[in-house]
Amino acid sequence: MTQNTSSAFWNKIAEKYAARPLDDPEAYEVWLAQVISCLKKTDRVLEVGCGTGSTALRLAPHVQSFLAADFAPRMIEIAEEKWATDGADNLRFVCTDPFSEELSPADGEPYDAVMAFSFLHLVDAPDQMVQHLANQLRPGGLLITKTVCLKQLAFVFVPLIGLMRLFGKAPPVKMVGAKELDEMMLSAGLKIVEEQNFGQKVLQRFIIARKA
Ligand SMILES: C[S@@+](CC[C@H](N)C(=O)[O-])C[C@H]1O[C@@H](n2cnc3c(N)ncnc32)[C@H](O)[C@@H]1O
Repeated sequence: MTQNTSSAFWNKIAEKYAARPLDDPEAYEVWLAQVISCLKKTDRVLEVGCGTGSTALRLAPHVQSFLAADFAPRMIEIAEEKWATDGADNLRFVCTDPFSEELSPADGEPYDAVMAFSFLHLVDAPDQMVQHLANQLRPGGLLITKTVCLKQLAFVFVPLIGLMRLFGKAPPVKMVGAKELDEMMLSAGLKIVEEQNFGQKVLQRFIIARKA
């Protein structure tokens, strides 16, 4: 199975992405604390679409090992630069496709937690991606996601993103719905244990789902 979305857009905007301030720092801290509260010191974690690694750098000290991946080389270079300053020893960044063998755990044991933040709406087939990520988990392991859900406002965002793409200002974006996202989780053998908006943002769904 392959995803053919180009990494060129993300590579080009990596510096800008790294420099941008958080939209809502308070909501981010609350959300991060919630993610940390469901992790254990013994957990082996995979994050896909990690960008410049800000969240991985914050989460890694709370688990045993943390592998963070992104397909845009410049995103990973910046993540590694940040890591070199104050990164935890158990954190490793890798530039690769989410379906790559490189992301299989070295010891063959599935992950305790797999994460994807602001990511699922950017892949060609979000349902296949959810299934793939679920496949990387041990039974009882957690898939933790935050996803931009634009489907209810597709009439605004489809033309807007289309126009932005003409000028190289946006990547391809899937119009994912919150309900659809729930169904993807269920079809992938996951049970949703927590679901809410990210802060006040009704278009960003934070979901914690457990593999049966
Ligand atoms: C919106 S950014 C989110 C970054 C980070 N997770 C965060 O929350 O700040 C999306 C990231 O996903 C990566 N990405 C997009 N599509 C991808 C794909 N098909 N495979 C791997 N990475 C992808 C991009 O390179 C980018 O770094």
